[in-house]
Amino acid sequence: MIELKIFENGKSHVIETKPGETLLTILQKHGYSVYAPCGGRGTCGKCLINIKDKGHVLSCTYYPEKNIEVILPGKVESTILTGQTDCLEDLQLDINNAGYLTGNPYGAAVDIGTTTVVLYFLDMLTGKIEKISSFLNPQNIYGADVITRIGYCQEYENSLKELQMAVVNEINRSLDDFTKEVKCTPENLEKLVFVGNTNMLHILLGEYPVSMALAPFTQKFIDTQTKTGNQSELNVNANAGIVTLPCISAYVGADIVAGLAALKVSHKNYLFIDIGTNGEIALVKGKEIYTCATAAGPTFEGANISCGMAAVSGAIASFTGNNHYRMIGNAGPVGICGSGIIDIMAYLVKNRLVDESGLLHETFIIHKKNNIRVTQDDIREIQLAKSTVYSGIKTLLNVVGLSFTSVEALFIAGGFGNYINIHSALLIGLLSYEIKDKIYPVGNSTGIGALQYLKSDFFKKKSDTIIKQYHYTELSDLDEFTTEFALNMNFNQYV
Ligand code: FES
Repeated sequence: MIELKIFENGKSHVIETKPGETLLTILQKHGYSVYAPCGGRGTCGKCLINIKDKGHVLSCTYYPEKNIEVILPGKVESTILTGQTDCLEDLQLDINNAGYLTGNPYGAAVDIGTTTVVLYFLDMLTGKIEKISSFLNPQNIYGADVITRIGYCQEYENSLKELQMAVVNEINRSLDDFTKEVKCTPENLEKLVFVGNTNMLHILLGEYPVSMALAPFTQKFIDTQTKTGNQSELNVNANAGIVTLPCISAYVGADIVAGLAALKVSHKNYLFIDIGTNGEIALVKGKEIYTCATAAGPTFEGANISCGMAAVSGAIASFTGNNHYRMIGNAGPVGICGSGIIDIMAYLVKNRLVDESGLLHETFIIHKKNNIRVTQDDIREIQLAKSTVYSGIKTLLNVVGLSFTSVEALFIAGGFGNYINIHSALLIGLLSYEIKDKIYPVGNSTGIGALQYLKSDFFKKKSDTIIKQYHYTELSDLDEFTTEFALNMNFNQYV
């Protein structure tokens, strides 16, 4: 046996273990969260851990063989978007809701994002939001994006259960905190509505997601799933109603359905995009809804960038020039999150520090002491990601016979829309200048959609209507997308 003495947030704890496992595995087994975007494959370089008298090691390739002292970075704070905006529905609670199981019923709308999870707790008698809580998705330790997590399910026995319980345990912690705070019991939690991408919902329900990563990319279910509390591992009333919103395809999930249904718009033709670890795009043309998904990857969440990181404490979130940047929280700077990456890229393009083809003349240093920089490889990743998103939107418009100028609005969901500088996104060619005055961030439309589903049958009907009106386009089947993708790799928007 060997001993690992772990130091974190001023406290220490000793782990006893046998040699033969990686440091990452040991830490994960003992409940420590280590950021591991490639799921421990040794390719992302992000799982660095400080070992006393040795320095930083890649924890997924380091096998402790003797007693060591491990210094973990303090827990990071997440900045998760939860608020309501004017573009989103805020429906009244159905007064006809009846048949509650207890005299004090509560419900929860749960938005399971690949990166973050948000819970809205609702008093089912008054319609009052009692609490909003959030946490970083603990499945992050198995990979930053859905494909890496699916790969983990494929490679290891019992891994689906492991992924499922990682998120379920953390949801249960939030449910328990809530019941303690409002002085009720799990019996009073009577209705839970879940939204998320198709993969997240499969893992939540313990359905094997591997077929979604293999052509022809099929899923086990896309319809609404309903269960009772005793059919789940959730700390809720045994007869509680548990619902997942319907999805459209393996890569256009209930998050897009909830977001589209939550939009309060009068436009006829509009775009709705949700860029997370995957880019989901919907184009509404009159009564028809056209959708597609782009494999943008987690670049805009920092995972494929050498100094990239999630939008948490210490991340550079905006950048306007040398020594002019803004960080999240007070720690750092530690790295760069998506909005910062887009700003820095725009700065490099505008100041001709990269040329049209993306050639970076020299590594761009942002903070010398902390070794925060942007490299040529980073630029290539950004080019791939921005072209994928732009080309996906453009191809879908072409398929439907619309153009950027003929759509009346572009709504951008989630933290991506809220925190990015639109001008920077236009400048690097992620979004089109032709639509520059019609771009609206809408906030957490997915979570707000789940909340409306919890409150109102009208919203349920609205989301059911979307399911009847959608068309799905598989971009990888279209030569046109490949051509667009190649054409839009360059930075030629800045003129
Ligand atoms: S290099 Fe270790 S998790 Fe990616």
